[in-house]
Amino acid sequence: MIRRREFIRNSVAGAGCLLFSRALPFAATDPVGADSRIEVLLGEPLGTISPDIYGHFAENLSGVIYDGIWVGENSRVPNFNGIRKELVEEMRKIKAPVVRYPGGCFADSYNWRDGVGPADKRPRRTNFWEQEESASSPASHKYDPNQFGTNEFVHFCKLIGSQPYLAANVRSLSAEDFDHWVEYCNSPAGSTTLAEMRAAGGYPEPFGVRFWGVGNESWGCGGNFTPQEYATEFARYTAWVPRYGQELAFIAAGPGSEDWNWTRGFFETMARKGRFQIGSTYGWALHHYAWNLSRGKTQNWVEGKGDALKFDVVDWYEILREGDRLESLINGHWQIMGETDRQHSVKLVVDEWGPWYRPGSEATPGDQLEQMPTLRDAVFSGMTLDIFNRHPEKVAMANCAQLINCLNSLYLAHEDKFCVTPVGHVFAMYAAHQGGQALRTIFSTPTVNYERDGKTASFWGLKGSASLHEHELVLTVVNPHVSEARETEIGIRGASLKSGTATTLTNPDIHAHNSFAQRDLVSPHTKALDFKGKTLAYSFPPASVTKLALTVG
Ligand code: AHR
Repeated sequence: MIRRREFIRNSVAGAGCLLFSRALPFAATDPVGADSRIEVLLGEPLGTISPDIYGHFAENLSGVIYDGIWVGENSRVPNFNGIRKELVEEMRKIKAPVVRYPGGCFADSYNWRDGVGPADKRPRRTNFWEQEESASSPASHKYDPNQFGTNEFVHFCKLIGSQPYLAANVRSLSAEDFDHWVEYCNSPAGSTTLAEMRAAGGYPEPFGVRFWGVGNESWGCGGNFTPQEYATEFARYTAWVPRYGQELAFIAAGPGSEDWNWTRGFFETMARKGRFQIGSTYGWALHHYAWNLSRGKTQNWVEGKGDALKFDVVDWYEILREGDRLESLINGHWQIMGETDRQHSVKLVVDEWGPWYRPGSEATPGDQLEQMPTLRDAVFSGMTLDIFNRHPEKVAMANCAQLINCLNSLYLAHEDKFCVTPVGHVFAMYAAHQGGQALRTIFSTPTVNYERDGKTASFWGLKGSASLHEHELVLTVVNPHVSEARETEIGIRGASLKSGTATTLTNPDIHAHNSFAQRDLVSPHTKALDFKGKTLAYSFPPASVTKLALTVG
């Protein structure tokens, strides 16, 4: 999409289980033909997995809010106070920890005051994304009716058991407006005029919002700042914000992908401002979208994209490769942050991630940036969540872009139609990692080779992550190979296996996806494992995401 190109212009850029009676040597080939090995090292904890890395992102963009989340109190679609009931019920199942709202680029054009007060008095405003909407798209997608504002968002978060993460407007509102939004949300009942306004809307008690984004993509749609200019704004917006006894976590607008210069420029400027300045920052927001399927032929934001549904084997591996770069981005930005933030008090918040395809696969034609998530995107999402799990000391939060009807959606909805996508199922499977102790896990497996423009390219063969809650061990594993299962020995070092289950998400067709008509074509299947001892063998099916939930002693 041309617009995103402009945003980034200023940046640099059937499974089976078998018991082994003995622990075989690492990477050995066993009597039943294991070709891979996983070693989970209980004695090597990496840190606690922040539940917030399983977070979500809901921007006021096309069908995300209006139609996706908000159907209105008088809708024939079942709802809780205007909020889609089926969405709430599904999100309760995945232990959704945090939701970021209202953008995205939308955030830096939004005046929070438009979305509070009596619903029938709220103004209609031009949505940031209006120019890209089609002639046939609903009026609410072009002209924001403001029926869903701060109260409704916080209520939605309460219904699903999430924390709200509000993104403030730095491009077109003042630092005073930011203070007042915090005051509206957090000042005690009856204390301020804004608290009374909140009470008049039905919410006398403070919302207690902790997470505050200060701008979004401030190198692009959020104001075209230089990193130095943005650091100055960030320091100003976050200075002396009223607390009301609520700890506030300020998240600064970080880089797009490899924009090392943005990270270095921000942190150096903050460090020059004094040693307490960096300490006032909770998170550094990194965005990474996997979009370029041109195999190095173009960097053009439109031409480089591929189709969400019609893709070849090479496109399967290429989108995974593009997404897999996130691990080196986490390591790279973390290293630069450490040049000035030596104690690493600021953590990474990957508050937009996912694959981004060209238009054309929308479940609801006309919904901007909507795409059809397939098994490929489930594998992509499992891979990404495993990356976060492997870096618990660095990544404090992550937000999949986006929750519903947009990009890497967990859910699709239109009017009374709804379905959980393969991505949504992956989030349900991985929820068991939240708050667990991440464990070092070694994967030894043959590399995948595939044809890329007449040459052989390769991708890793099996990866994943492990975490422990007391005696409950969770091991998630992605097999990216489109046609080969991985016969794998799994060794648990430091404990014995007692019992367990295996949950697998796969399909014989790599393009498989769910739809309003076929809601359960791609859905996980769980079976009990039956074993005793230290080592088990498992066949990870091709193109799959698997969760092994193991009780150890
Ligand atoms: O998620 C869609 C858009 O992508 C967001 O609004 C923006 O932050 C990013 O460029």
